[in-house]
Amino acid sequence: MSHAANIQALALDRSARASLKRQTPQCVWFTGLSGSGKSTIAQSLEQQLHAQGRHTYLLDGDRVRLGLSRDLGFADAHRAENIRRVAEVARLMLDAGLIVLVALISPYRAERQRARDLFGAGEFLEVFVDTPLALCEQRDPKGLYAKARRGELKNFTGIDSPYEAPLAPDVHLKTSATDAKTLAEQLMPRLRW
Ligand code: ADX
Repeated sequence: MSHAANIQALALDRSARASLKRQTPQCVWFTGLSGSGKSTIAQSLEQQLHAQGRHTYLLDGDRVRLGLSRDLGFADAHRAENIRRVAEVARLMLDAGLIVLVALISPYRAERQRARDLFGAGEFLEVFVDTPLALCEQRDPKGLYAKARRGELKNFTGIDSPYEAPLAPDVHLKTSATDAKTLAEQLMPRLRW
């Protein structure tokens, strides 16, 4: 047997890893404005999955930007690179058998489509966390909207940088009237089991 064929014969594939975990690897991708509630809903979903014995991982923009993407800012090209990196990491994690939750503003349709294209049919669930800008700005948990309004923060999404809402998200969550835990519960049956 050639060396290459030998390696192939020994290589584990993703279905082998996933079967060990008894779960269906998939990527749940949350997109929405800063302060829309992506991370909170994703955290709640992760807790609910964990409680059912599912092996998950949450890739969150704020955290990713402290490490994997710490060299990147918020110019369009940098956001595109941030999203590309996170999508590639998510793909590797799917190969490892995990259910991966991603919470990134990911403001451009084209970039989100590029992310989706890395995954197989049905493996990628786009969740639009739809919170009106006025409400995000009113919450302003990190004081960033105020900073952006004062002109101290450039390219802030929703202020002087665009957010392209999904035209046909897999799931559309309207957050104004419903709490994060309930929204996460509503998401559960939309996952692949
Ligand atoms: S993305 O556009 O590349 O997808 P990402 O989700 O990683 O964005 O990071 C968004 C977080 O970075 C926001 O929640 C906010 O805390 C912070 N942030 C700092 N500057 C900006 C900015 N100019 N635009 C948007 N978010 C910013």
